[in-house]
Amino acid sequence: MKILVTGGLGFIGSHACVELLDSGYEVVIVDNLYNSSIKVLDRIEMITGQRPLFYEIDILNKDALNNVFEENDIDGVIHFAGYKAVGESVSIPLVYYQNNITGSLNLYECMEKHGVNNLIFSSSATVYGNNFKAPFKEEYGYGTTTNPYGTSKMMNEMIIQDLAKANKDLSAVILRYFNPIGAHSSGLIGESPNGIPNNLVPYIAKVATGKLAYLNVFGNDYNTADGTGVRDYIHVVDLAKAHVSAIEYSFKHKGAEVINVGTGVGYSVLDVVSAYEKATGQKIPYVICERRPGDIDSCFADPSKCLELLGFKTEKNLEQMCKDSYNFMEKNPDGIK
Ligand code: NAD
Ligand code: UFG
Repeated sequence: MKILVTGGLGFIGSHACVELLDSGYEVVIVDNLYNSSIKVLDRIEMITGQRPLFYEIDILNKDALNNVFEENDIDGVIHFAGYKAVGESVSIPLVYYQNNITGSLNLYECMEKHGVNNLIFSSSATVYGNNFKAPFKEEYGYGTTTNPYGTSKMMNEMIIQDLAKANKDLSAVILRYFNPIGAHSSGLIGESPNGIPNNLVPYIAKVATGKLAYLNVFGNDYNTADGTGVRDYIHVVDLAKAHVSAIEYSFKHKGAEVINVGTGVGYSVLDVVSAYEKATGQKIPYVICERRPGDIDSCFADPSKCLELLGFKTEKNLEQMCKDSYNFMEKNPDGIK
């Protein structure tokens, strides 16, 4: 089975490629290296002993993308490619809609043209907005998205559902990720954001390795046990494995399914700080500051549909996530360049 992975050199995509290769799939990667390095391809090969076919292509270039389908007999597609910085999407919405919507439409068009009917899409818990109370269940539908990034995920979900209504052979699994963190246990692949990280755990990793002095905790007056924001952190290797389960499911079913991928357990910012300290032996100094606009109290999954349909359950705990994050950061202090 040959799987096309768009964005396959990125954080989640690279881990998914490893799990796909380890499960016996052939992998073809399309990535324009906007937010990744070609060296990740070597790292995937170092881990798995296999080198996926790689095309340095922008999915906005429909002809080039179409050529990948001409040259390869693709059985299924996992679509990770997109921009993901929430704050940036507010400043440059057109760029986000162009990449995340037009790019996706190009891909879906190429799939239709070549009769490829199996699709896994990277969506996000952000589509629940701030309208519901955690644990979030898929049946809640959509909340009010608060930024163009979130809206682009919701729009993609709707487009895919329309495509599945029109094409009864389409099998699409829309995965709503909660908060992926951690790294491969080898320390060869992981998350390496440019500049100062926006997300909690990459930021803590920089504090732990002495690159940043302290963590800013965005608010301690939320309606949670210790007042800091609660999220559902999932190990990226667990998340990657969920994609293998999803692609297997897609070969046996038709239609579009929306599925949460989380652990079902919420941890506060201060829980994560103490877990990181315990797992690594490093002190994480922090200061409490203002809330970050748009943040919600609590966001965690009801993961029961994922277990029911995909037979998938997460295995790694918060301590393992922190250990692997630190291991990657220590081995790659400047990321993978
Ligand atoms: P990432 O930025 O590490 O990976 C995305 C990859 O896509 C990068 O390698 C980038 O170079 C590539 N890419 C971007 N635009 C492209 C284009 N036009 N053509 C070809 N390649 C392109 O991000 P990630 O964290 O691995 O996220 C993967 C997907 O999961 C994204 O769609 C993201 O929105 C979604 N997601 C991520 C999170 C998270 O917290 N990381 C949470 C929910 C959903
Ligand atoms: N936080 C801090 N200090 C920081 C960074 C974050 O206190 O420096 C707090 C936030 O206020 C929040 C928690 O840590 O309470 C987690 O924040 P992240 O930025 O790590 O994650 P979010 O839940 O805000 O957002 C992430 C992705 C989104 C995605 C969402 C749901 O960035 O793209 O998960 O999947 F939509």
